[in-house]
Formats: sequence, C-alpha cells, structure tokens
Amino acid sequence: MKKTLLITGGAGFIGSHVVRLFVNKYPEYRIINLDALTYAGNLENLKDIQDSPNYTFEKADITDANRINELFAQYSFDGVIHLAAESHVDRSIIDPNAFISTNVMGTANLLNAARTTWKDNMEGKRFYHVSTDEVYGSLGEEGFFLETTPYDPQSPYSASKAASDHLVRAYGNTYHMPFVITNCSNNYGPNHFPEKLIPLFINNICTNKPLPVYGDGKYTRDWLYVIDHARAIDMVFHGGRDGETYNIGGFNEWQNIELVKLLCKTMDEKLGREPGTSEKLIAYIKDRPGHDRRYAIDATKINKELGWYPSVTFEEGLSKTIDWYLENEEWLNHVTSGDYKKYYDTQYTHR
Ligand code: NAD
Ligand code: DAU
Repeated sequence: MKKTLLITGGAGFIGSHVVRLFVNKYPEYRIINLDALTYAGNLENLKDIQDSPNYTFEKADITDANRINELFAQYSFDGVIHLAAESHVDRSIIDPNAFISTNVMGTANLLNAARTTWKDNMEGKRFYHVSTDEVYGSLGEEGFFLETTPYDPQSPYSASKAASDHLVRAYGNTYHMPFVITNCSNNYGPNHFPEKLIPLFINNICTNKPLPVYGDGKYTRDWLYVIDHARAIDMVFHGGRDGETYNIGGFNEWQNIELVKLLCKTMDEKLGREPGTSEKLIAYIKDRPGHDRRYAIDATKINKELGWYPSVTFEEGLSKTIDWYLENEEWLNHVTSGDYKKYYDTQYTHR
C-alpha cells in the first residue's frame, strides 16, 4: 500500500461519499474509516464498498484520546481527512456541549495524535480539516465569503467548527503540522440524514406531512451536490498547498422558499401528482434562534488553483437526489425507524 489514510466521520453523509471515492479511485491506498456511529453515522451508506480489500472500518470516538492514540500507533497514518463532527445547527441549539466535545476536543485529540506520530518527520504528511462556510457568520444581501473573510460564527455549531479551524491553524503555526482546511457551503444529495432541509422535505412530501419553513423562508443558502464536494476534497488533499484554506461552494444561491417550491414542483412531477399538490404542505413555523440570513461562497481560489468546478447543475443534482430517495425507500425507512442502528451489530459484531 502506498499510503494509509484515516478518514473520520466516514459513515456520515459527506464522509461516506469521500470514503467511496477514495476506496474506489485509489486501490493502492489503505483507507481506515473511523466513526463513532452516532445517530448520524450509518454504515448502510457504505454497503457497496465494505468488502473492498483496501477498506477497514474502526468504530471509535474522537473524544476518546487514548483510543485515538492507539489507532495512530497501530496504523501510522500518512494522512488524515477529518470530517467527524456534530453537524446539525438545530441540535447545537438544544445541546451545545456535544458540539464542543466532538468538534473542539475531538479535533484536538486528532491533532495531538498526528503531532506525536509525525513529530520526527512531517514530510509527505497532511492533516486535512473539513469545515463549513458558517464560520464566517451571516451575509447581507450583497457579497460573498472569501478565504480572508474574518470569522464571525453565530451558532454553537459554527462556533465549535470555528474553534476547530483555529486549532488546526495554530498547530500548523506552532508545530509545523502540514494542514489544509476547506470551508464548504450547504451540501445535498444521496444519504443525507432526513433532519436537514432537503431530505426532510423529500420525506415529508412522500408521506404527506407538513413542510416546516422557518421564519419568512427568505434565508439564503448556497447548495452543492455532495459528490462535487467529495471531488473537491480529493483535489485539495492531493493538490492543495500546505497551510492554505480553500472555500468550496456551488455558485448556486437559493432562498429557502424558492428551493422548497422547486422541490415541490419536481416531486409532483416524479410522483405523478397534480401540479401544486405538494406546495399545499408548506407551513411557516417559528424561526430558528439566531438564524443566519445568507451564506454565499466565492470559490474562485479552488477553481483557479486546482481547476475544480461543480459538475452538475442544481436542477440535475436535485432530480438525482429525489430519484435516489425514491429508489432507496429501504434506506429511508431504516433511518426513520432507527433500524439502521442494528446494521453495525449484524455486519461487524461477529467478525
Ligand atoms: P453528518 O452529521 O452526516 O456525519 C457526521 C459523522 O461523524 C457521522 O458518521 C457520525 O457518526 C460521526 N461522528 C460524530 N461524532 C463523532 C465522534 N465523537 N467520534 C467519531 N465520529 C463521530 O455530517 P456531514 O453533513 O456529513 O458533515 C461532515 C463534515 O462536513 C462535518 O465536519 C461538517 O461540519 C462539514 N460540513 C458539512 C456540510 C453540510 O452541508 N452537511 C457543509 C460544510 C461542511
Ligand atoms: O452551510 C454549511 C452548513 O449547512 C453545514 O456546515 C451544516 O453541517 C449543515 O447542516 C448545513 O447547515 P444549515 O443550517 O444551513 O442546514 P439545514 O438543512 O439545517 O437548513 C437549511 C436552511 O433551511 C436553513 O436556513 C434553515 C432552514 N430550515 C431547515 C430545516 C431543517 C427550515 O426552514 N426548515 C427546516 O425544517
């Protein structure tokens, strides 16, 4: 094997697409997927590659420093792609401590283990930290987030991600840890846990439940198809410059209510329903506390330096996403019923 890579959070939404891409594209790499399998971790996301010879799953919690140190000693990782995190803003409002623990302390544990393992020779090593555009705060009607935009996180989630970004840069500065950071906009696509806007609304439309739009619905997000994020991570991991930050975005801003209307229209067509049927499910509800008004990424740097650009339009990506959910009813049923939790026991406990 040419390299042993640690991917954290590989059973989650984005992580599973990154693991699949790396396992299939780089048979000469040994890929270790480390995941605690919280409510958001689902090994059913990786059924197609779980028996690949270059793939290993390790159930571990990044807040457990001893276990993380043991795994670094066992595998001597050459690189880390760190995605494990608590990722849902609404949950961070209910329970901030889980976010501080995993996103801040968990990242520190990984940095410490990497520093110890790599201290005698940092050559060719790389700590890749996957972060979010939310660290930059909220935009008005104009402007974009640049890599140089000052941090101004507004939710416990984004504050914990900002703290982890600062730690990574501090380890780079203080201990010469070779790192890259990417800050990405909102992802959507297959395997997205149905508590976030797009998969929740797809599920609710299918089951004729209300579509809970927060506040006036005029909040704006920049949406990127998850497979394009995974492609960007591959490019930055292999071609990004040490110590640099790259913003990743979809060049694709939508007000929530306009997105929801497009989703309703497309779902009506795909489900053979009368036009306008799904829109009747829209229900405006109380706003998210501290709700960021607008995010928009300027992804010129990654485009210019590495040639990355989204490969699908939003209409194509949304259509593929809806098709995936309609064709993978079992996945959705397992998630909504909680049955996906049994998969780990069936698949791994007796091995
Ligand atoms: P997700 O919630 O779907 O997955 C997170 C994964 O991390 C899960 O598999 C979970 O089991 C695992 N995990 C959580 N706590 C852990 C712990 N203590 N130890 C080990 N594993 C743990 O999240 P996602 O949407 O796939 O996001 C992945 C990363 O990308 C996160 O760092 C997030 O901040 C970042 N990000 C997400 C988006 C987005 O739109 N979803 C956009 C930009 C950046
Ligand atoms: O910008 C990147 C971030 O995008 C990531 O860092 C986060 O991990 C990811 O969860 C996502 O955060 P958001 O808060 O933007 O995503 P969410 O899908 O929760 O919400 C998108 C928008 O839709 C937001 O303005 C809130 C709104 N919303 C969300 C839900 C779940 C609703 O109006 N109703 C809802 O039920």
